[in-house]
This record gives sequence, structure tokens and C-alpha cells, in this order.
Amino acid sequence: MKTEIYKNKEDIKKAAEFIKEGELVAMPTETVYGLAADTFNEKAIKKIFEAKGRPQDNPLIVHISKTEDLYKLAKEVPEKALKLAEKFWPGPLTMILPKKDSIPDIVSASLPTVAIRMPSHPMARALIEASGVPLAAPSANISGFPSPTTVQYVIDDMNGRIAAIIDGGDCGYGIESTVVTLASDPPKLLRPGAITHSQLEEVLGKVEIDKAVLHPLEKGAVVSSPGMKYKHYSPKAEIYIVRGNKDDFISYVKEHKKDADYIMCFEGEESEMPLPAVTFGTEKDSLSQARRLFDALRELDENGAHKVFARAPSEKGVGLGVCNRLYRSAAFRFLNVKKGKIIGLTGESGSGKSRAAKIFAENSCVIIDADAVYNEILLKKPDIIKEIASVFGNSIINDDNTLNRRELAAKAFSSYENKKKLDEITHPPIVKECKDRAEKASAEGRTVIIDAPLLFTSGLDKICDITVKLYAPETVRLARIIKRDGISEYEAVMRFSKQTEEAKLSNNADFSINNYEPYVLETEIIKFLDNINKR
Ligand code: TXA
Ligand code: MG
Repeated sequence: MKTEIYKNKEDIKKAAEFIKEGELVAMPTETVYGLAADTFNEKAIKKIFEAKGRPQDNPLIVHISKTEDLYKLAKEVPEKALKLAEKFWPGPLTMILPKKDSIPDIVSASLPTVAIRMPSHPMARALIEASGVPLAAPSANISGFPSPTTVQYVIDDMNGRIAAIIDGGDCGYGIESTVVTLASDPPKLLRPGAITHSQLEEVLGKVEIDKAVLHPLEKGAVVSSPGMKYKHYSPKAEIYIVRGNKDDFISYVKEHKKDADYIMCFEGEESEMPLPAVTFGTEKDSLSQARRLFDALRELDENGAHKVFARAPSEKGVGLGVCNRLYRSAAFRFLNVKKGKIIGLTGESGSGKSRAAKIFAENSCVIIDADAVYNEILLKKPDIIKEIASVFGNSIINDDNTLNRRELAAKAFSSYENKKKLDEITHPPIVKECKDRAEKASAEGRTVIIDAPLLFTSGLDKICDITVKLYAPETVRLARIIKRDGISEYEAVMRFSKQTEEAKLSNNADFSINNYEPYVLETEIIKFLDNINKR
């Protein structure tokens, strides 16, 4: 088949004719090039799967040019969808909604939902308008290859397979749209992109992040987004992500020079690298990394790279989208220059620990929530329940063999001695569980935060490299918990009095981070992380 290459506005009419005839047209969008066909023409949609070699169970995104078109595609359009559309459309956001029956099953891979996006690229919008139908379009690459961000890459993959390619220059964002599903409650981020998780939360409230965003799928796992199952963004070269800062990276590469022939690093670092390098954006600018990532992967192949050491980008903001693609392109192969630090975080009630934990998480730390380990794991283990019952009696066991938490609380908190007895049973296994988790993450080079209100009292401090106390004056903390938990001043003071032992012990923490002016907390935490990572 001869593939027409169009460059001008007038040619869009001709391209729309191909769409109407049931042919395929590659179109530029602000994210990556898409391979478009008439959503309602099953034969045309089938050609998309053939041209790409795409598995049939991977559904397509339907592209529209005005918000009203949502009603043509979705069974219901919830308030949340309209809010997202208002804030982020046209732009790099795809939302998933329950689908209308009129959408062919082949588009949605027989799922009850459909993915919808309104692109901002003027040529994509013009093509949708001129075609008069919503356009189903996956990225315009051969399945498994990096998505094309330049017209040349579309030509490389699609020439001779499709009717036309519209040349709209290089794509602005360089990674595909953010995909969020509104078919679950709370909404879930399935694929991160230029619209970030926190931008979504500003509009939607809580948004979960699908585990598959940063982790390989476990065997047999049920996937929320079929696209996550497949080998993706893979260059021919084997990529290894080397975690650590620039200096660590360079010394690692020097030591293991014979194990690789290429490097992926940030702009400006090439001349310091001991092997030939391809760059992907600057270290501090995730958007610039997104724009260059897929091109860099293709360049590696063009240069004949076999084994590549890659610098690890930040997972923050748009960085989550960069890492989502890069980790897959590296088949989740990581090399750890050095172990990550294990940091214990304590702080009295109202000191702002949960906020601090959230900020640490946004700065790529792995968070281990000791309270959650206690409540969600330990207190559900039959052997622990039995052990507690051997001290407090069988009345703390429910008929279904679960723990009667209320009964246990009544017994354990009746005296200081009883509380001590419970702690003696539970603290060693908490420490063990947290230690196992922390060491695993640390071995992967991750900085670990053990968030534990009883860090010192439980002995968790002993498994940490560094301990930190979050500090705010008592009056500030009192005011915070009265407001947050809607309790009286008396109750708040009582709660404080229960924490005196930890308060005393935690004065020995290696660091103290001040949190009485909320707006400085993030700066303080970033400063702290920089400081400890230099050690
Ligand atoms: O930026 C983009 O989104 C680009 C441009 C061309 O618009 N398109 C794109 O399409 O990346 P594609 O087909 O390469 O990726 C679509 C992703 C896949 O991971 C697919 O599994 C997921 O969206 N998806 C589509 N429909 C879905 C649905 N109903 N439920 C869950 N995931 C869905
Ligand atoms: Mg794709």
C-alpha cells in the first residue's frame, strides 16, 4: 500500500476521506503520534490491530474534539468526568467511563468501559472534526516498540501499512496521556503522564495509583489496564537502571565498564561519562525527560547499543510517567550502587507525621507505616492472636477466630503492666516485619522511611540507620489534633500524656525536623534528604 505523507492544513480533508472510507491515518497529537480510524467502523478498527501487530485484548483510546461527544460514548457522564474535562481538556488526559453499547467490542476489547481523550494538537482536532466521528487511536508504533514522537519514527514503523501519515512535527510531551479510570471508586491512575497524580487529586480528591504503574505484574494478576500486561517501550538493547546520584553512577560505570557499551544520562553529563552516551532531558526537569525518553530509546538501537546503563530519574510529578516507561523498557532491571538508608520517623500526636510521610513518598522514599503493619498484618496472624490470648484469656478471640480488638483494648489498657505485657508480645514481630520490608527496599537502593509513632519504645529505632523526630511545640500540636479529630482540649491533653515515654526517648533521635510553620515542611524534608544522601 502506498502511504501518503501530508503536511498542510488542506490535506486534512483528504486524510478525513480515508477515515470515512475505513482506512487508517497516523496523526500527530501533543503526546505521541496516534494511528486513527473511525471508532464505529469495525473493519477499520481491525486494521489498526493488524498494522500494529497489537494483541486483540488491548483496548483503544477514543479521541474526541468537543466535550459533548462524551455523551456519544459513555453510558453515564459523572460530575467528576465533567470536572476533569473542564480542567484538563483539550490535553494529555484520558478518562475511562462505562461505555455505550454502540461502541464496537473490538474498540474496548470487550470491556464494559471505554477510554476517552480530547487531544489539544490542532491537526488531531482538525482531523476528528473533518472526519465527523470520534477516532479510535493507539500510539502509531509497532506493538512493543517505543511510541513515536517524530514523524520519521511513524514512517519507520508504518510506511506501506496505512493510507496516510500527517506530519505535525515533533510531539510536545513525548509520553502518552495520563489514564485515569472513573469506573472505580476512588478513581485510579492506570498510566501516569504529563497530567500528574497530584493535579488529578486537586480535582477528584483521593486517586489511587495502580500498583502496575511502577512494578512488574505478578504472574496471574488481574490487570486494570490490559496495556500493562504487554512488553512495552522495548528497545533491542538491554537497559539497566543504575540507582544512585551522578557521582555514584560514574564510579559504578567505571568499575563495570566491560558490562555495557552505552549510557543513558541527563543532558550536560555526557562528557563526564566513561562510555558513549545518549541523553534524555535534564536531571531536574521531568517534562524534558518525558519529551526525550522514547527518542533516546530509539537512538540507542540506531547506534547499535547492546547493553546500556541508565541514570535513574525522579519518580516525582511527571517523573512518575517517565519512570513508568523507563522501568518497563528496562524490564525492571535495576542495579544498586549502594543500599538505601533506612530512616525511622517519630513525632508526637499532632506533629504532622502523616503529612511528612506523604512528602517523603513524593520524594521517592518507600514508606513503611508501622501502625498499618501492626493493625493490618500482625493482629490478623493466628499465632499472634493465640499468644495474646495465652496472656489475656480467650475472651479476646471472636467466634470466627479473629481478634476482638475492643476486648483486647479494654484489657491491655487497664494498667501499665498489662500494656507492657501486650507490647512484649507484639513489638518483636513488628520489628521483624518492618526490618524485612525495609531491608528489601534498601537493597534496591531506595531510601526507606519507617513511620512509627512508637519508634523508640518498640525498638524499631535499632533497625534504622538514622532516626528523625518531627517536632512542633505542644500548643501547636494541641490545636492541630483538636481541629483534626474534633476532640476536646481535655481529650487531647490525655492523649499526649500517653506518649510521654516515646517523647522522652525520641529526644535521642539523630535529627529533628521542625514543623510549626506548615509551609516550610517540604523544604525542610528535601534539605534533610539531600543532607543524608551526601553522607
Ligand atoms: O497519548 C495517548 O494516549 C496516545 C495518543 C495517540 O492519544 N494514545 C495511546 O494509546 O497511548 P495506546 O493504545 O498506546 O494506549 C492506550 C492505553 C493502553 O494501556 C490500554 O490498555 C489502556 O489505555 N486502555 C484503553 N481502554 C481502556 C479501558 N477501557 N480500561 C482500561 N485501560 C484501557
Ligand atoms: Mg501504545
